[in-house]
Amino acid sequence: MNEPQKSGGDVPLPIGGVTGPGAAPQVDLHAVLGSEAFWRIARAFYARIDRDAFLRPMFPEDLEEPIRNQAEFLIQYFGGPQDYSARKGHPRLRMRHMNFAIDVAARHAWVACMRGALEDAAIPEPHRSAMMAYFERTATFLINREG
Ligand code: HEM
Repeated sequence: MNEPQKSGGDVPLPIGGVTGPGAAPQVDLHAVLGSEAFWRIARAFYARIDRDAFLRPMFPEDLEEPIRNQAEFLIQYFGGPQDYSARKGHPRLRMRHMNFAIDVAARHAWVACMRGALEDAAIPEPHRSAMMAYFERTATFLINREG
């Protein structure tokens, strides 16, 4: 008998094999919001990072590449074209974050920037809360240092 694919416990793998702690998005948010919304989120998020004295030093001076990485990743994760993986391969988020010291404080600061970014980008409910649930869960999964 073929068991359904599992990724830890009994959580199904997300659609498209995207990395993360497991749960698939309930709604195809890319179909609902369009790519432009995810670019708005990525730009708003990095505008906040740029003003965040605690997190800013972790990121490169030029934020254009991180903006593109984040926008393409989110478009892909939330059901849109797989441009991120076409350019960079499997997201492997935990591995790609290992070089950055993410403790509980950094995780909370990142989540606060993203919460603000969804507001700045005027993402409507209930999609905003659905996205925040994903971000809260994934940011916790990315903690890789005691703090
Ligand atoms: C929901 C949580 C998160 C998601 C979905 C996420 C997603 C990503 C993605 C897709 C990249 C680009 C990786 C690459 O292609 O090389 C990235 C880079 C990065 N992330 Fe995260 N991340 C999350 C949480 C965090 C947290 C909590 C921190 C630190 C507080 C962090 C710090 C960084 C840094 C410093 C980079 C390098 C910038 C770049 O090259 O794009 N991330 N993140």
